[in-house]
Amino acid sequence: MIVTTAQLFRHAYGKYAVGAYNINNAEQAMGLFRGCIQSQAPFIIQISKGARKYTDKRMLEAIIRSAGDIFPEAIFAVHLDHGDEETCYECINSGFFSSVMIDASHEPYDKNVEISKRVVDAAHAKGISVEAELGMLGGVEEDIKVEDGHATLTNPEEAEDFVRKTGCDSLAAAIGTSHGAYKFKGRQSLHFDVLREIQRRMPGFPLVMHGSSSVPQDEVQRINAAGGQLGSAVGVDVNEYLPAAKLGVTKINIDTDGRLVWTRVHREFFRDKPAEFDFRPPGKVFMEEYAKFIASRNQLLGSAGQLNDLRASLKK
Ligand code: G3H
Ligand code: 13P
Ligand code: ZN
Repeated sequence: MIVTTAQLFRHAYGKYAVGAYNINNAEQAMGLFRGCIQSQAPFIIQISKGARKYTDKRMLEAIIRSAGDIFPEAIFAVHLDHGDEETCYECINSGFFSSVMIDASHEPYDKNVEISKRVVDAAHAKGISVEAELGMLGGVEEDIKVEDGHATLTNPEEAEDFVRKTGCDSLAAAIGTSHGAYKFKGRQSLHFDVLREIQRRMPGFPLVMHGSSSVPQDEVQRINAAGGQLGSAVGVDVNEYLPAAKLGVTKINIDTDGRLVWTRVHREFFRDKPAEFDFRPPGKVFMEEYAKFIASRNQLLGSAGQLNDLRASLKK
């Protein structure tokens, strides 16, 4: 059942974080739904601009609708990840999305406010909620690459002003993470001080953590042992997910880790079976492994086991 992102956030705020997972194809969708049912967790499916272009945006929508039919027990929201203004309007008008993200964080502050506010007005007119971003994560997102030195943490005072001026429903805050597999050099901790100060200023307001993959080291080693060359990839400490959730991080975005599962499964499969050329056997292994991965993440986010309570609260 597709619900609004706001309904998921109301249930989760301050208790657990809803996992927001990116999908690009049917195998990822199957693994995601299976993992969330196995762990009895609500979730958010995210679609990036790149994902919409990978096959065709209608294909992804059809996959998600079908998955909803195949798994009637699932409770989830559908979200546009890192949208520009034009893509936000397309998704708002499609009637399919629960929420959109307008990412104008690379613009100067006033321009970010102006663009985000326009999107909020259009989305709210259709009952859709908006995630906006303030501060800059490092790494690559879509076609924009932010060099390490230019990544900036969110300023809590500015965050309060930004939320008031734009009317956005949630805020992607930069708290030390970056997108992709190479997140940290040396020190590896989230900026809880920034979260604490934002929560003090805006109690109850949902925050979003991007770039939240943990980049499991055993996964990296297995990929490299099967021919990969991933170098010194490091991610977020999974034990920091729940403490962040208690400070108002209600949505935690995980994409890279799923790509690592895919790469590990396929590299090992074809290394061990060099004469094989049917993609379905490794595809089946991937769906199972991805489901296991998703279930394990939902445990760490605290969303595992919340499905029945959420269902009951939606009926009230
Ligand atoms: O933050 C970006 C997400 O990981 C989506 O990545 O734009 O390559 O689909 P993508
Ligand atoms: P990772 O790919 O680093 O997990 O980040 C995902 C993300 O932020 C999607 O918006
Ligand atoms: Zn992101």
